Amino acid sequence: MNTFDAILARKTIRSYTNQPVEKEKLEQITVAGNQAAIAGSLEFVVITNQEVLHTIQKSAKEFFLHSGVEKLIKLASLPSYEVLHNAPAGIAVVTNTSNDPHIMRMNSANTGCAVQNMLIAATDLGLGSCYADSGAVAFSNPELKQAIGIPEDKTVSAIVTLGYSADDTPAVKRSTNNITWCQ
Ligand SMILES: Cc1cc2nc3c(=O)[nH]c(=O)nc-3n(C[C@H](O)[C@H](O)[C@H](O)COP(=O)(O)O)c2cc1C
Repeated sequence: MNTFDAILARKTIRSYTNQPVEKEKLEQITVAGNQAAIAGSLEFVVITNQEVLHTIQKSAKEFFLHSGVEKLIKLASLPSYEVLHNAPAGIAVVTNTSNDPHIMRMNSANTGCAVQNMLIAATDLGLGSCYADSGAVAFSNPELKQAIGIPEDKTVSAIVTLGYSADDTPAVKRSTNNITWCQ
């Protein structure tokens, strides 16, 4: 698939088959993420341990249910709602924890760049993917960080869910009305 076709074909997948993702594909996707425009540094943790993936989902659900935020409580109360969409694999993007506004801004931009590279790479490799920001909230639980080998002083800034898609609807090409030129 050429790059532009992959960009247009990418869409968020929230329904996956049980088929495991080949290790080689996960390796390629992390290489793509690591090769993104990154001002600073990022780390990546590939998670294929099903018990850990389920625990992340359970922890995030608990966090939402006790968040006091009506929208999140409503969402997490849906029986079918799972933050990682029961995907067979996930890649956690990890940043250095900081309260410095500049570093925080760079961390979130770096995360976005790395995630987008991984989503495009996944599309190219025939996989479905989702930028699961909600999955990262589970890591306010320090035990979970430990479970995937992340030290206390690091932050999970996003999780990319990966798997073979059970959703065969194509990506919708967006209107370009929001693009203007100053010539
Ligand atoms: C920063 C960011 C965070 C997101 N977090 C979530 C999330 O937690 N859960 C989810 O299902 N989708 C999440 N998404 C996916 C968006 O909902 C999705 O990209 C959007 O609806 C557009 O659909 P498309 O990706 O199919 O074009 C996130 C996307 C971005 C860019």
